Amino acid sequence: MSTRLTPILTKFWDHPQSWTLATYEDHEGYDALKKALGMSQADLVALTKDSGLRGRGGAGFPTGMKWGFLPPPDGGPRYLVVNADESEPGTCKDTPLMMAAPHFLIEGVAITSYAIGCDHAFIYLRGELVHVYRRLLRAVEEAYAAGHLGKNIHGSGFDLDVTVHAGAGAYICGEETALLDSLEGRRGQPRLKPPFPAVAGLYARPTVVNNVESIASVPPLLLHGSDWFKAMGTEKSTGFGIFSLSGHVTRPGQFEAPLGITLRELLDLAGGMREGKRLKFWTPGGSSTPLFTDEHLDVPLDFESVGAAGSMLGTRALQIFDETTCVVRAVERWTDFYKHESCGKCTPCREGTWWLAQILERLEHGPAGAASRADFDKLLDICDNILGRSFCALGDGATSPITSSLQYFREEYEAHLDVDGCPFDRDASVYFA
Ligand code: NAI
Ligand code: SF4
Repeated sequence: MSTRLTPILTKFWDHPQSWTLATYEDHEGYDALKKALGMSQADLVALTKDSGLRGRGGAGFPTGMKWGFLPPPDGGPRYLVVNADESEPGTCKDTPLMMAAPHFLIEGVAITSYAIGCDHAFIYLRGELVHVYRRLLRAVEEAYAAGHLGKNIHGSGFDLDVTVHAGAGAYICGEETALLDSLEGRRGQPRLKPPFPAVAGLYARPTVVNNVESIASVPPLLLHGSDWFKAMGTEKSTGFGIFSLSGHVTRPGQFEAPLGITLRELLDLAGGMREGKRLKFWTPGGSSTPLFTDEHLDVPLDFESVGAAGSMLGTRALQIFDETTCVVRAVERWTDFYKHESCGKCTPCREGTWWLAQILERLEHGPAGAASRADFDKLLDICDNILGRSFCALGDGATSPITSSLQYFREEYEAHLDVDGCPFDRDASVYFA
């Protein structure tokens, strides 16, 4: 095993009862909460700021700074809402974390709630994940019974209730304000920002919305300190993260490593490409981030380096595709997903994703003669009319696989015209050496 792995949140996932409170407590579980309850709220926020922890849900916004945005207490309620609606294609880190070690999240919820002065926290879970819902409910029950949640936690005078809420399975409900609308019982659609949730969130009250992995990282950060945290990762992308490798790799799975690790190193840990095939393209952070190719194997996977190389770190969902994959077909599948999940609130995304899906379908599947070279410009033109003109990030994300695949694989798009359909449905080696 490479010394580059940093098993922290994943350290006891292979324990046969990893999800129980007993196992968690055997691994320093809830020690950080006890430590937090002896600290001031301001010191907890300052420590989180100092650590450089950035949101692990995709955007990478500094977590401590977000907590610090809450207005001063006014006697009314304020909330913590955990975004557990993990739905970005290829993203598979929060779900295994909540299944294997749910108490990291619950302890993180308790510490964060204490730090921001909240006495009712919500975990908003993706609707389809009934098994995770049951696991979280059980873990919350265990935490109440042990006095880690509820009234007067560990004699500190701090009270906290935690509600686990399952959504109804809409990708848009991972967008924080759509999530809040859904949690309030309305149809999940993004709200205009500002005001940001920190000022007017759940029930129009100050609310911190954080991703599962961000909150789960808080207990080890508090226990070991911000210098320990900053010793991992890079200067501006500190700490560790769970990288999910899926697709054409020998051993797909979750690899917890410092930010700044490269795909080359991760592939090494995952046993390399499946069946000795060559890497063709990959997503650094789910399908909403521009594609990378084999030229990008050595790009450090931190926010700055991935951005400088033309993509985004996003959710660290590394979907790996080998030479047997038709890039047009992969992009068509993703685009169909965005078309389906577009909430319909704004025209560029609602109409644009529909048109993008139509064009990609005729390129990939015909009928013969239906597609033409003009379609490439049309795809780029529609993307241009979505990017930066949509109401939320879903529209922007939908354009990423299209523009980046046309940048790197235009000749593959053109080959579809030459054979009136997908060359990979025939003998692709005839078309691509
Ligand atoms: P964003 O950059 O607009 O906001 C990030 C966070 O910072 C939000 O919580 C926002 O409220 C807060 N924030 C930003 N500016 C602020 C200010 N001035 N004052 C107070 N708070 C402020 O990004 P967004 O739209 O929340 O997320 C987009 C990202 O989500 C994408 O980069 C993508 O990687 C990721 N994503 C993740 C998915 C998943 O399944 N985990 C699904 C889809 C997208
Ligand atoms: Fe809805 Fe798409 Fe507009 Fe977002 S960009 S508000 S998902 S229609």
